[in-house]
Amino acid sequence: MISYFNIMRTIDEQGYHFEEWLTPQQIAQDVAQVANQISADYQGTEPLFVVVLNGAFVFASDLIRKLKDIRCEVTFIRVSSYFGMSTTGQLQFIVPLQQVVENRDVIIVEDIVDSGLTIHQLKAHFRGLGASSVRVASMLFKPNKLEYNDSKPDYVGHEITDEFVIGYGLDFDGFVRNLDAIYKVKES
Ligand code: IMP
Ligand code: MG
Repeated sequence: MISYFNIMRTIDEQGYHFEEWLTPQQIAQDVAQVANQISADYQGTEPLFVVVLNGAFVFASDLIRKLKDIRCEVTFIRVSSYFGMSTTGQLQFIVPLQQVVENRDVIIVEDIVDSGLTIHQLKAHFRGLGASSVRVASMLFKPNKLEYNDSKPDYVGHEITDEFVIGYGLDFDGFVRNLDAIYKVKES
């Protein structure tokens, strides 16, 4: 087991340090605001939340417990990273979708939307499978980095400029997802 202390030191040795950006209290406010919007918009429907692993599991876990009077299902997918692939490349499912999305109101849950490629491909995929609607809830959104206009999230916890952030599900080489605040990674 690598300890929290060791994780921090490892990153520091690589020439980076963390700067706290969103406290757990601020994150809770953002999540509650997103949950309230979704609860209002989806009254009387039975949405299917599709959580994009790995990063979104922390946000999703908080979000679904803040929904008010919504009957919903929650499922998970994991897709391949697309580095080196063309934008028309096939989406590779590492954990495939278990649920039928035909005629369902799908809400994709993401940790962060950057270029928007992941969301662009997922939306096309779910529409192709016959979803009645596909919307996106993302804890964070980098509007300056967006390259796919249809990937602007419908529900956003917080916008961020072009910086790398970690914690609250977001990783740095696989680690630090367990931090309860969100930190900006800065070069030391
Ligand atoms: P996109 O397909 O370019 O929108 O990339 C979205 C994915 O990139 C997210 O789901 C994250 O896994 C990863 N990502 C983008 N920016 C960050 C960041 O600042 N910290 C951690 N992961 C990030
Ligand atoms: Mg992700």
